[in-house]
Amino acid sequence: MPVRNPAPQDAGIAGRLLAWYDAHHRDLPWRVPPRDLARGVRPDPYRVWLSEVMLQQTTVEAVKSYFSTFVRKWPTVTALASAPSDDIMKAWAGLGYYSRARNLKACADQVAALGGTFPDTEDGLRALPGIGAYTAAAIAAIAFDRPAAVVDGNVERVTTRLFSIATPLPQAKVEVRAMVEGLVPRERPGDFAQATMDLGATICTPRRPRCMLCPLREDCSAQANGDPEFYPVRLAKPEKPLRRGAAFVAVRSDGAVLLRKRPEKGLLGGMSEVPTTNWTARADGATDVSAAPFSADWQKAGAIGHVFTHFALELSVFRAETNGPAPPGHFWSGPAGISGEALPTVMKKAIEAAIPGATKPKRVPKA
Ligand code: ADE
Repeated sequence: MPVRNPAPQDAGIAGRLLAWYDAHHRDLPWRVPPRDLARGVRPDPYRVWLSEVMLQQTTVEAVKSYFSTFVRKWPTVTALASAPSDDIMKAWAGLGYYSRARNLKACADQVAALGGTFPDTEDGLRALPGIGAYTAAAIAAIAFDRPAAVVDGNVERVTTRLFSIATPLPQAKVEVRAMVEGLVPRERPGDFAQATMDLGATICTPRRPRCMLCPLREDCSAQANGDPEFYPVRLAKPEKPLRRGAAFVAVRSDGAVLLRKRPEKGLLGGMSEVPTTNWTARADGATDVSAAPFSADWQKAGAIGHVFTHFALELSVFRAETNGPAPPGHFWSGPAGISGEALPTVMKKAIEAAIPGATKPKRVPKA
């Protein structure tokens, strides 16, 4: 029988975690460190919201440079609301899950209409576009000191280990949430949430957790039972189908590349792309040159692969040199501008297969 841990209301767990966080928290660009909070500095809800939306499904390392670019270009939620959607999509390009960028703009518009002030409760936040249960709880706790239970993947791992919760995820979510609710302290709930995330990211890692350094070693049921890596238990994920298609990279003699904009709705909605055959998450597109959008001397340039949430995609890539006008619905993007287009990673890969280096920012030679 696994050893069950003491009652989750044990205030000691939060206290030990917060003491660890004071000494070992990560310095992150959107975070107000505990020493500054103690001096009365308050987090900016705009920065908390922006970082939490960016961090959904994305790693801290990948988010850092995007976060810095966004707050430099748009220092306030009202500035972001005033920005053209296309500029936001361009700045988001490469971060993935593009519906987040569309919702970001919709949410900024609503908050700007409220006078630029975010709601300060979980319910108020949840009513905004792109803010689900996790994000509402995270903003409420971090920006507004609300004792909300913030449960992300890191927190699920820490909690299932702490209490030896062997129910497979996602069914275990209800149990995990109840346990976290019992742990959240009245004081410093925002730091508690971030401490749990940091513990999960740096100590209570998926593989080879560093239990010897863990401030909750004595509290942890999985550690007492000798197999923390066993948790969390997950139901096997169904395999992702492989979809196929073809991408056509037309290059003008000055290096411009022919692009078009994807429909606003659906996968990669509102982003730019090179012409491709009609692949979707559920159906293949044609993979050969006969499906080219117009006739040209198309040459096979290679193939690229990309993994989306529900499927993997393999695109055959063709390249042709052509100097005609852009067909209706298409536009030429000059060589200096390609790196700034709203190109999702899959399209950057296709262009790179045809023209190596084309999507990288160009160095402007000094005068
Ligand atoms: N992941 C999601 N939100 C985070 C935060 N505020 N700090 C660290 N990691 C996170």
